[in-house]
Amino acid sequence: MSRYLITSALPYINGVKHLGNLVGSMLPADAYARFQRARGREVLFICATDEHGTPAELAAHEAGMPIDEYCARMHSVQKDLGSRFGLSFDHFGRSHSPQNHEITQHFYHQLDQNGLLEERSTRQVYSIDDKRFLPDRYVVGTCPHCGYESARGDQCENCTRVLDPADLINPHSAISGSTNIEIRDSNHLFLKQSLMVGRLREWIDSRKDWPLLVTSIARKWLDEGLNDRSITRDLSWGIPVAYEGKVRPGFEGKVFYVWFDAPIEYIGATMEWADATKNNWKRWWREDEGAGDVRYVQVMGKDNVPFHTVGFPVTLFGSEEPWKVVDYIKGLNWMNYYGGKFSTSGNRGIFMDQALELLPADYWRWYLLANAPEPADSNFTWEHFQATINHDLADVLGNFVNRIAKFCTARFEGRIPDQGEYGPLEIETTQALEQKLTSLTGYMEALDFRKSTSELRSMWVIGNEYLQRAEPWMKIKTDPASAGVSIRYALNLALLFASLAQPFIPETSAKITRALNNTDSPLIWPRNVADRLSQLTPGAAITVPEVLFAKIEDSQVAEWAERFGGAEKKL
Ligand code: MF3
Ligand code: ZN
Repeated sequence: MSRYLITSALPYINGVKHLGNLVGSMLPADAYARFQRARGREVLFICATDEHGTPAELAAHEAGMPIDEYCARMHSVQKDLGSRFGLSFDHFGRSHSPQNHEITQHFYHQLDQNGLLEERSTRQVYSIDDKRFLPDRYVVGTCPHCGYESARGDQCENCTRVLDPADLINPHSAISGSTNIEIRDSNHLFLKQSLMVGRLREWIDSRKDWPLLVTSIARKWLDEGLNDRSITRDLSWGIPVAYEGKVRPGFEGKVFYVWFDAPIEYIGATMEWADATKNNWKRWWREDEGAGDVRYVQVMGKDNVPFHTVGFPVTLFGSEEPWKVVDYIKGLNWMNYYGGKFSTSGNRGIFMDQALELLPADYWRWYLLANAPEPADSNFTWEHFQATINHDLADVLGNFVNRIAKFCTARFEGRIPDQGEYGPLEIETTQALEQKLTSLTGYMEALDFRKSTSELRSMWVIGNEYLQRAEPWMKIKTDPASAGVSIRYALNLALLFASLAQPFIPETSAKITRALNNTDSPLIWPRNVADRLSQLTPGAAITVPEVLFAKIEDSQVAEWAERFGGAEKKL
């Protein structure tokens, strides 16, 4: 496979994302996209904001803005933060785009034609004072089972029982608090997923290489029996239930459910990209138009897995058209903040904008990828963050690069030493690195980011060990030629490390490359180590890069833990 379509789960529009969201999909997807590009593959990396649904409406209301303005504004905020974090999307779209309207309505039409949709009457809560229908979770009241007073209409948070809003004692609107609510009948479109269980099971069973986290969630859903699901809602913000400009009779004032149109935006965003760049989106999405040789990889948090293993595939299969379906799903667990959840609504943890006020993106990227919540949940603490940065980035990588560049400047007039040949120590080191490169490449192909970062770190350690054994600082006095060989070798190692670090810490990698005056050589992922160790031209000038990583001081940790809260805020 030489073409890779990579999508990250689409972040909700309602506010700046926290680091848990970042490490749960966008960042690992970015590292993978960067890796595949560096391998010389043609990559299309797509993401977008997920803009519909009640939470978006309420966030706009709270911000005192019309919903469309709110979404346009938050889209640009999120887009900007993404690029400041080095997220290398080929396109960062919007699920509210005209393209997504068109393609969502196309799927609706296909499913309808194929007899997979059915109108059913449902009972919905209507708030007279709010002048709107309320989604189940926006009706609150007392739980009939445990007496908890702020139980939501879909589920009691206290005793975890699944509820129906009609079960609640003293039901009222979570939006206005009004108790002036009633049950009204409302027609909705149901997608007959139950007809497709066999086809889905066959498909999941054929995915032999999927992670257990993903297949077990998918099988659980299939085993429990798939209910037909309603794909429309009584809301005004969203994609109208229409085809070719005509609203379905009786569906005025209704829109598609956000989870229906959001995954379709993977295609919608590709259409946006194609329109903006004069490219062909069908080459990526239609098996009959060339997508047969695309490998499609999706990255997401575990809560999104059911929608990608069941919901979206039902839409694609049900269309009876030759759509590209996902080849590999990377599902991640949660990263917690001091053992509790990062939370947007609870304003708990660190948000992307705040993180960049404290430190450059690469510090965060490295920490998050090195502690990606795979295979289990992981945990952010400031102390652990400090220890990881100071050790991996400052002591191991940063120190290696700065030390040799400085030494080269002081003792070799800032030119790559040209004397001598690599000897047994260099050959031995190269061999050790070859093995690590093979496993690192394998881990990256498998989207295993913890193992990848740990393998890369161990390559940096090998670089430092090499310097300790070669001792150019001593040899310069007795055997300058041998010191020259070591420095030439080590500078080539630094360039190798820059190519390997590029998917994780791209800014740093560019700084190293620039300092070695090798800016013209693209950061190609090495096929083997040996070829890369004579890359720098002897005699060529280098510069000392600015300090790559500053150590994080105890006083900073204390200040940040205080500002963002630590253990005491645990939920
Ligand atoms: N916005 C959803 C979330 O953050 C993810 C949507 S993924 C998509 O959980 F496929 F539906 F777009
Ligand atoms: Zn309860």
